[in-house]
Amino acid sequence: MPSYSALPVPPMSIRFDPAGGTLQPEGPTLTRRMSDLDGLFRDHAAWEQAVADGDPVVYSVVSSRVPEVERELPQSITTIQPGATAGELWMTKGHQHPNHQGEIYLGISGHGGLLLFNGTETEWVDMTPGTIGYMPPGWAHRSINVGDEPYSFLAVYPGGAGHDYGWVLEHGMGRRVLSGASGVEFVDYDAS
Ligand code: F6R
Ligand code: ZN
Repeated sequence: MPSYSALPVPPMSIRFDPAGGTLQPEGPTLTRRMSDLDGLFRDHAAWEQAVADGDPVVYSVVSSRVPEVERELPQSITTIQPGATAGELWMTKGHQHPNHQGEIYLGISGHGGLLLFNGTETEWVDMTPGTIGYMPPGWAHRSINVGDEPYSFLAVYPGGAGHDYGWVLEHGMGRRVLSGASGVEFVDYDAS
C-alpha cells in the first residue's frame, strides 16, 4: 500500500458508498491487474495467458486520507472482481504486517472469504455484507472473491503496521482457494 503524506489529518467525517465502493473524501487508489500478481497463482502458464489476454483488473483499493503512519488508523475499501484463473479464484496478493498488529475487515457487498495463515495453521472466515473478519497480530491475510459479482470490504488497520508482500511469496498462505463443482474447494498451497 502506498503511504499518504498529508499530515496531520484533522477529525473528520468519512462517507462510504456501499454501492460504488468509494470513500469521500478520497485518498490514493491502487489498481491491481493480473500482471501485478506474478508468482501468486498456482498455474503460472495460465497466469501468463491471462496477462497476455488483456491483463484484466483483478482488484482495486480506495483509501481514505488517513495516512499510514504510527498511531493513525487508516481505512480502505477493496473491491475484487469475480473470476478464476485455472480454477483458482481471484484474490488479493496477501501480506503480513511486519510490525505485528491486529486488523478488521467489514464485508460490504458480494461474497468473499478471508484466508489467514500464521506460518503453521490456516483459518477461513466467510465474508458476507455485515460480517466483521478479525485478523489477530501475526496472521498473514488474503481476500478471495468466491461469488459471481464484485466483492467489496472495508479494512481498518493500524497505520504503523507496515505491509510485507515478500512474506507470502516466501511462506505461501497454507491453502489455495479453488472454484469446485459443489462450491469453494481448499487445496494445500503447494499441490499442483
Ligand atoms: C491493509 C489490508 C487491506 C489490503 C487490501 C489489498 O492492511 O489488509 O487494505 O491491503 O485488501 O490487499 P493486498 O494489500 O494484499 O494487495
Ligand atoms: Zn492487512
